[in-house]
Amino acid sequence: MTTTAVSAPLISIEGLAKSYARNTVLHDLNLGLHAGRVYGLLGENGAGKTTFAGILSGLTHADSGHILIDGEPHAFRVPKDALDQGIAIITQEQSLALDRSVAENVFSGQLASTLGFVRTRALREQFTSLRDSVGFTDLHAGTVVRSLSQAKRQQVEILRALARDARVLIMDEPTAILSIAETQHLLQLIRRLAEDGRLVLLISHFLEDVLSVADEVIVLRDGAVTFAGPTEGQTPRTLTQHMVGRAVEIEHKRPTRVAPDAPVRLAVTGLTRTDGIGPVSFHVRAGEIVGMAGLVGAGRSEVARAIFGLDKISSGTVAVDGVELRRLTPHNAIRHGLAFVSEDRKHDGLSLVHSVRENASLVVRRKFARFHFRTVRPEKSAVGRHTDHMMVKASSIEQSVWQLSGGNQQKVMFAKWVMTNPTVLIVDEPTRGVDVGAKAQIYDIILGLAAQGIAIVIISSEIEEVMGLAHRLLVMRRGRVVREFDWGATSRAEVIAAAFGDYEQEDDTRDT
Ligand SMILES: Nc1ncnc2c1ncn2[C@@H]1O[C@H](COP(=O)(O)OP(=O)(O)OP(=O)(O)O)[C@@H](O)[C@H]1O
Ligand SMILES: [Mg+2]
Repeated sequence: MTTTAVSAPLISIEGLAKSYARNTVLHDLNLGLHAGRVYGLLGENGAGKTTFAGILSGLTHADSGHILIDGEPHAFRVPKDALDQGIAIITQEQSLALDRSVAENVFSGQLASTLGFVRTRALREQFTSLRDSVGFTDLHAGTVVRSLSQAKRQQVEILRALARDARVLIMDEPTAILSIAETQHLLQLIRRLAEDGRLVLLISHFLEDVLSVADEVIVLRDGAVTFAGPTEGQTPRTLTQHMVGRAVEIEHKRPTRVAPDAPVRLAVTGLTRTDGIGPVSFHVRAGEIVGMAGLVGAGRSEVARAIFGLDKISSGTVAVDGVELRRLTPHNAIRHGLAFVSEDRKHDGLSLVHSVRENASLVVRRKFARFHFRTVRPEKSAVGRHTDHMMVKASSIEQSVWQLSGGNQQKVMFAKWVMTNPTVLIVDEPTRGVDVGAKAQIYDIILGLAAQGIAIVIISSEIEEVMGLAHRLLVMRRGRVVREFDWGATSRAEVIAAAFGDYEQEDDTRDT
């Protein structure tokens, strides 16, 4: 590690710049990146991180500037050009062939073409040794990728990069979709990859993860580098200073007290899904925030989707303000005052081709269709107010959502549901991909909505987030609620233990 000061950089970035119309996204970037090191790339939503990663990996083109690999200039037209130089990117918009097997994806473009057929046995052996070398032991060569979870698909992408012998791995928010244990495993792997001499560029909004794994951090603010240097000596506070220009601290204030006799706004009774998740019963009073914690796959999102009528149930009831919903459909749920911010903004959240304004006002329009809520001016100002409040960074509310950065898309989705003026708001991973400043803002908004008497259910894999916000915390395991804690009455470790199943699987928690 100490030799890096004298060795030449593997990648040199010289005067790199990129604009979209009048929006300059990257200004004159100059950086030297060395092999054998982990770089954390940080910045607010819309700072230009994904754009920079895209240029380095051939997904996006710079307007000017140079990329030098081992001192030689290269211009990447397509990702394959970057791969040929050993640069691979792992994004959340995964590019796997879903109907092919794991092994076929890992070795795609390498073996089959020369032989005319796939040498199954040799392929499997090669796969097994590669897989075991990185410890993805429960990934099987023959499994069809479509049947894998997002986390496992990410492992396939990593193996594919390593099979191509990539010397540079760029990861754009890889841990956003991972559980605690999976995140720890990935961070350890990132360290090992660097020790093997690879260069890893890790984009993340989790400052602690970056501080624990990166040798150096690069901070972008409005497309310019505000800090590049060793991680040593940096803290979450100094990093947010570089990112935002001021220190942002997330402190969890005790949520406003809810009267024990406040009316019940949401009552869920014996809800059981056709896939067997449940039965689940709970209620949320006016002004109350109920948190749901649990491992990935514990059934939290499934319960939320069933309440909102997105998935089928076999028994149970949902009532809003004492009125039972006769049919559970999204349409009916919205009519009764439910709002649901889904964790999956691509599938049931946003229409990417439409503008911020159209997306944000979509449900409001439907809800008020009978009042002919068509006038554009009040709509514009309402959308503008909500998106400003959420700190959405867009050139205007007429900009198409696909042109926004990931975190900003998330904020538009939140705004869209808050605008419906709901009675009950269910939010699933509301701050996924959102920067620290906007995170604090979203917490304030949630607390403010509760103070107005809205009943809120928040699902989050960030335990601090649910522990800090919720009056009551329900822990789910294997499709059922297994524990309940009041605000301030538990610890992170106790919540994790309940999520894993108290004592029976305590070893799992120790491993992480
Ligand atoms: N295809 C595009 N057309 C127009 N503008 C774009 C396009 N792609 C990105 N932008 C803009 O470039 C800026 C930087 O976006 P980028 O995705 O690089 O941000 P980011 O740092 O990755 O943010 P996040 O943390 O939210 O993922 C944003 O203002 C975004 O709206
Ligand atoms: Mg991004």
